[in-house]
Amino acid sequence: MRYLPIFLDVRDQTCLLIGAGAVAARKLALLRAAGARVRIVAPECEAEIAALIDGDAVHYTAGAFSPEQLEGCHLVISATDSAEVNAAVAFAARARNLPVNVVDSPELCSFIVPAIIDRDPITVAVSSAGKSPVLARWIRSRIETLLPSSIGKLAEFMGERRAVVQAQLPQVGARRRFWEQLLTGIIPPTLAQGKIQTASELFNHALLEKAARPPQGRVYLIGAGPGEPDLLTFRALQRLQEADVVVYDRLVAPAVVDLARRDATRLYVGKCRDAHSVPQAEISQTLVELAQQGKIVARLKGGDPFIFGRGGEEAQTLAAAGVPFEIIPGITAASGCAAYAGIPLTHRDYAQSVRFITGHTQDGKLSLNWAHLAQGRETLVFYMGLTATAEICAQLQAHGLPADYPAALIEQGTTARQRVIAGTLATLPDLIAGAESPSLLIVGEVVSLHAELKWFEGAIDAPAAFKAATRQRAECAITHRAVAA
Ligand SMILES: C[S@@+](CC[C@H](N)C(=O)[O-])C[C@H]1O[C@@H](n2cnc3c(N)ncnc32)[C@H](O)[C@@H]1O
Repeated sequence: MRYLPIFLDVRDQTCLLIGAGAVAARKLALLRAAGARVRIVAPECEAEIAALIDGDAVHYTAGAFSPEQLEGCHLVISATDSAEVNAAVAFAARARNLPVNVVDSPELCSFIVPAIIDRDPITVAVSSAGKSPVLARWIRSRIETLLPSSIGKLAEFMGERRAVVQAQLPQVGARRRFWEQLLTGIIPPTLAQGKIQTASELFNHALLEKAARPPQGRVYLIGAGPGEPDLLTFRALQRLQEADVVVYDRLVAPAVVDLARRDATRLYVGKCRDAHSVPQAEISQTLVELAQQGKIVARLKGGDPFIFGRGGEEAQTLAAAGVPFEIIPGITAASGCAAYAGIPLTHRDYAQSVRFITGHTQDGKLSLNWAHLAQGRETLVFYMGLTATAEICAQLQAHGLPADYPAALIEQGTTARQRVIAGTLATLPDLIAGAESPSLLIVGEVVSLHAELKWFEGAIDAPAAFKAATRQRAECAITHRAVAA
């Protein structure tokens, strides 16, 4: 972030505006909207500004800029056509540690003026750090369409009632949830219709009800998807943003964890390098205890919580303890990796069914029904099968699949680091030397379609910017994990 976004109180403060043309007129309007007193200095004054001159509130001095005019000012804006004057204003203001903005010259500015949506008291400011004001304005217009014009009224309504809510609901979490529920309820549309009295009665009733009930915790078991943060579901995002505490493990992309509220507590329970993960029973118990303290807990799990995610065990513990919970499905690694590798899991010509199988070994051994698995016309997806790949390929051949039967390993699927290693049952074990976790093994004739359908690897040009953004997130992920560890 190049600039610190802040909102400056200039009410009744004197601000100096150098220039009195059309651009200066816009800056004058902005300063006046924020309640500033404005001193204008310019050799000549355009009619638009002349009409606004008003004693001390908008004062005009005809003439050139001189540094002593900065005396008693709190902020300076230079909006002249002269590069020399602009530079002199910037120099003099900086020498006095005064915040200065020079229109269209970011290098001379100590602050920049963002694109603004003003729904007083709600103000949204968008900045492109001076790189593209047009883009910032475009973003502003997009946001504008999302904000009803009555949002200002709603902010006033809520502001007037903050003290009473604070008194009735002393717990921060309970207060926040009350306000969040209010925002999605009937009160905002009632206010938008101008029915302030009804809104007020509804509010009083809701507050009384809330205060009478002790805060009740709950747990959301959320599928965080296979890696690419944009693959999170809308419901998952909503629930994540409600949470007071986020409990997450290794396979959850840090960019997903970052989507939680800034003040939410983050608890990492995954395996760190050279360390053990928190035992499952302990994680489940933590979820119960947090919910019993009245907390809203988001338990984030890679992929889908109910597919090799031990979500079932956590849900059982919650159910036994009487803790309310909700399960939000996620895109499982098989779906995500297959889609991003261009390998359809089923296909009329090649596979009529698909199986998700654990390749996790117990004491180095896999005990699976190989004869069943080696029947063909079915796609086999092995989770946690990286270290057992050679054994899986050998067993499938030993039980009847041909050596040239297609198989692929997908490493870090859906992320910018995705690697698809495609081969056959005979060749794959050698091809994957050096491959890292998380990796998914797909065996089946559908794998042969990868060469034709590998859209994410550039066969059909995957948007470069999209890939770069994903890569950047992956890099943040590494830093984030190091911090978490
Ligand atoms: C403990 S399982 C969790 C599966 C998860 N619940 C799901 O639905 O995807 C972990 C295994 O999922 C697979 N996996 C998860 N994310 C992956 C990814 N982005 N790329 C490849 N494999 C992945 C790997 O096989 C990994 O060993």
